[in-house]
Amino acid sequence: MTGETGPQTAPEAHSLTAKLANGVAMPRVGLGVYLVPPGRKAREAVAAALKLGYRHIDTARLYGNEADVGQALRDSGLPRDELFVTTKLWNADHGFERTLAAFDESRAALGFETVDLFLLHWPVPRLRKDSWRALERLYDEGRVRAIGVSNFMVRHLEELLAGARIAPMVNQIEVHPFFQQREVRAWCAKHNIAVAAYSPLAKGDVARDPTIRKVAVEAGATPAQVALAWGLHHDLIVLPKSVRLERQRENLAATKIRLTPAQIATLDGLDRGQVTDWDPREAP
Ligand SMILES: NC(=O)c1ccc[n+]([C@@H]2O[C@H](COP(=O)([O-])OP(=O)(O)OC[C@H]3O[C@@H](n4cnc5c(N)ncnc54)[C@H](OP(=O)(O)O)[C@@H]3O)[C@@H](O)[C@H]2O)c1
Repeated sequence: MTGETGPQTAPEAHSLTAKLANGVAMPRVGLGVYLVPPGRKAREAVAAALKLGYRHIDTARLYGNEADVGQALRDSGLPRDELFVTTKLWNADHGFERTLAAFDESRAALGFETVDLFLLHWPVPRLRKDSWRALERLYDEGRVRAIGVSNFMVRHLEELLAGARIAPMVNQIEVHPFFQQREVRAWCAKHNIAVAAYSPLAKGDVARDPTIRKVAVEAGATPAQVALAWGLHHDLIVLPKSVRLERQRENLAATKIRLTPAQIATLDGLDRGQVTDWDPREAP
């Protein structure tokens, strides 16, 4: 997967998009809203981000804030086709019929006719194949513009592709300089599956790392921007979460940071298998 424009050439943060296997354009910086409390807090965080130029919001049934995300997107007055919203099927909702019903609930909560990207949140054993068939149905019916998975490792992807009619267009996994997931990323690149990086700031840890801080000083950037620019350099879609206006601005501006090959190599050297969220590597 190659972005339509690389970070070196992007004039405007929100025009930087990845082209998915089916041609859908997905903004390469999205606002994550995990642990953003539902209600006013979530609506304000999304509204602020949209004003700054974010056009992509990453939510999930699990996060409990789909309705607030949808409300803020609609209240922005921005044209629907300029917005990109992802939501995810929760683990308790797997199975063909249950997936269809859960999708309807998510879609209704968001308040849109179509969802841009619908993901299986986790490779739930036994049921995930049936759930995938439901996503294929939703895609055929035009109710979702793209379908994908999250937390799928290579063996989960191989199994899925063996039985799928439609391949996932996106795999959303944890990726940051301390947990680089090279094997999954390479596999996805080979199969034209875009990789979206969740917890791209290692939940804030990147800001405390002396090596990243040193690169940030050299690059005239902040540590968070360095981590995000590294992800963009590696063709990732990045999903930083912040409820603070200044940090949202800082994170979006990472699209303008250029890292030298030596700086990229330094960051490539920081992989230490540090998982900050749930760990799918042993998931059956
Ligand atoms: N598919 C999955 O299984 C899965 C799992 C985890 C996450 N996700 C998605 O990925 C998104 C991001 O992941 P995440 O929320 O786990 O972690 P993250 O984006 O790596 O880090 C978020 C943390 O870093 C802080 N932060 C944000 N910008 C910063 C900056 N510029 N400098 C210093 N600290 C900063 C935030 O605090 P403030 O908010 O106070 O600024 C928050 O504590 C989620 O919101 C969710 O959408 C998906």
